Amino acid sequence: MSIEERMKSEFSNFDLSGSPIAQELREDFAQEEVLKTAIYPRPKNTRILSVTNQKGGVGKTTTTVNLAAALAKGGLKVLVIDMDPQGNASTALGIPHGEARHPSTFDLIVNKTPLELVVKQNSFFPSLYVAPSTIELASADLALSNDEGKEYILKNALEKYLDQQPERYDYVFIDCPPSMGLQVVNSLIAANEILVTVQAEFYALEGLALLNDTVNTIRFRFNHEISITAVLVTMYDKRTGLSRDVYEEVKNFFGKDTLGTVIPRNVHLAEAPSNMQTVISYDPRSAGALAYREAALELAKRGVRNG
Ligand SMILES: Nc1ncnc2c1ncn2[C@@H]1O[C@H](COP(=O)(O)OP(=O)(O)OP(=O)(O)O)[C@@H](O)[C@H]1O
Ligand SMILES: [Mg+2]
Repeated sequence: MSIEERMKSEFSNFDLSGSPIAQELREDFAQEEVLKTAIYPRPKNTRILSVTNQKGGVGKTTTTVNLAAALAKGGLKVLVIDMDPQGNASTALGIPHGEARHPSTFDLIVNKTPLELVVKQNSFFPSLYVAPSTIELASADLALSNDEGKEYILKNALEKYLDQQPERYDYVFIDCPPSMGLQVVNSLIAANEILVTVQAEFYALEGLALLNDTVNTIRFRFNHEISITAVLVTMYDKRTGLSRDVYEEVKNFFGKDTLGTVIPRNVHLAEAPSNMQTVISYDPRSAGALAYREAALELAKRGVRNG
């Protein structure tokens, strides 16, 4: 069915001709058509991305779970490690808060529970897995205050787990809390790439210089491989000049690492977690889902080119 035929069949009761809404719908339908047949290439080696920004509420968790689900929908094998005591990524991936007795990333970090006992399969996408967190993770810093090697716990556990897999993981995403504590340091040492999310708002660039400094310190002291390889602008409103200005500033700051795809402000993205789902299963045709599926495709294609 062509886009115009679909417009007619789905909106026959409305006269949408020439309206801005009709234009947006046409764009969404066209984007959906492209994504339907898109092939998500597998990387040569497992890509491990830490989704990081010490600024709160900039879309880290929304990005982690939806990129992960989009890649899993595209046929790739994906693991999400929730390193945030808030546990929002775990909820969006179907794990209720504080699920009784299931081991979490707190057990992994503090009790050295093997990652294979922590990981659970997502019920919507069979090739998507999650290592959930609980609020206890907030006390890990204190519990390990004098332990030597405490920065490498996640790296060692992840390496061991990945080595045991009969079928290789294509992607690992680590969702970080909005801080620079032990959880984030572990995450930046375990990863080989950093994905930064930036919210399209007035103070967007505040703190990015500090983030760069932290990444440089981690690279120098702990993990020579790590660098920022992808920057995604979220909560973008294409009707405002502010969003466009922020995108341009981000591009000036991060250059070619800035993804061409931006994530619009979209209410379905905020609603999906309360149904314990990603938007990719909750409303796969919403503008938010389409944007994350496109961003995932861009990330996958870039990875293959760079790798
Ligand atoms: N593109 C979007 N459109 C609408 N709402 C969004 C969008 N992205 C994120 N949100 C909402 O904004 C809030 C913050 O997003 P999110 O939790 O992903 O940010 P975060 O960086 O992980 O936050 P924190 O720093 O607390 O971990 C959430 O309520 C989320 O549902
Ligand atoms: Mg978060």
